[in-house]
Amino acid sequence: MFPTERPRRLRRTPALRRLVAETNLAPDDFVAPLFVAEGLGEAREISSLPGQFQHTVDSLRQEVKELVRVGVGGVILFGVPSTKDELGSGAWDPQGIAQLAIRALRDEFGDALVVMADLCLDEYTRHGHCGVLRTDGTVDNDATLELYGRVAVAQAEAGASVVAPSGMMDGQVGAIRGALDEAGFDETIIMAYAAKFASGLYGPFRDAVGVEIIEGGDRKGYQQDYRNRREALREARADVEQGADIVMVKPAMSYLDVVSDLRRELDVPLCAYHVSGEYAMVKAAAANGWIDGPAVALEQLTAVRRAGADFVLTYFAGELATELAR
Ligand code: PBG
Repeated sequence: MFPTERPRRLRRTPALRRLVAETNLAPDDFVAPLFVAEGLGEAREISSLPGQFQHTVDSLRQEVKELVRVGVGGVILFGVPSTKDELGSGAWDPQGIAQLAIRALRDEFGDALVVMADLCLDEYTRHGHCGVLRTDGTVDNDATLELYGRVAVAQAEAGASVVAPSGMMDGQVGAIRGALDEAGFDETIIMAYAAKFASGLYGPFRDAVGVEIIEGGDRKGYQQDYRNRREALREARADVEQGADIVMVKPAMSYLDVVSDLRRELDVPLCAYHVSGEYAMVKAAAANGWIDGPAVALEQLTAVRRAGADFVLTYFAGELATELAR
């Protein structure tokens, strides 16, 4: 007896495998997260994110030039200010580091590059939380929304095409949409970190931006509980109803079920954030010779696309785009 199903027929040669592949990655499926720091003399490598840097505005421009050359789909900027305060006012200062960097990229690349701005307060607050604190130390949701509106307008004024609220406050998308429209920025896109989980995988990022949450605190009071799947859909639907143009799932690899759910239930563009800890794990194992780093990166990012994401935010953007272009 011979099997009648012979799937191996289609796997015989690379050309056949390419022809029948259901999912393909291209450089424009990647958005590169980039850090720009105030008061730096030169770019500084982030030790827990090998190959990633805190940039000066100038080194950022150079890096982005290379990313554009290899066809990366966009960049998302994170500012690292040299001073912080209670409210995080550097986040909406027109001369704040993120705004200066956005403006520099817009001036150089114009509409040839999609410039996104992460919209949050944690890099700018002394206490490291994503919102304003009440006297009892809890995060005041509605007071925070007003500040998010100011940040959105400052980023749009600087030239960001996309603002990406990552603070997980209730009603943040609606508040930001309102503030943008009122200031005349009705074309600015909102990419909502819709299903953002309280994850252990953000560690290297917090090194990169110099954020430490006071008193050993965490973000479990606002980011989602990773035990919950249905809740992610509810969060994402609420964001779309409030005007989100694009929704995101974060992190990526441990949440592919969520990516798949959102793909099935929503019709807006969907992305996932392959976060700092996911990148660092691959890099660390590869540095030890335990895995083939680029091969694993390609496998993971393809899986994110296969689960239903249209694009992926990843620190591998430059490296893999260069590889795919070969
Ligand atoms: C919050 C923010 C975080 C990341 C992106 N935006 C950190 C956090 O929620 O603590 C993490 C990204 C990464 O780990 O790569 N502004």
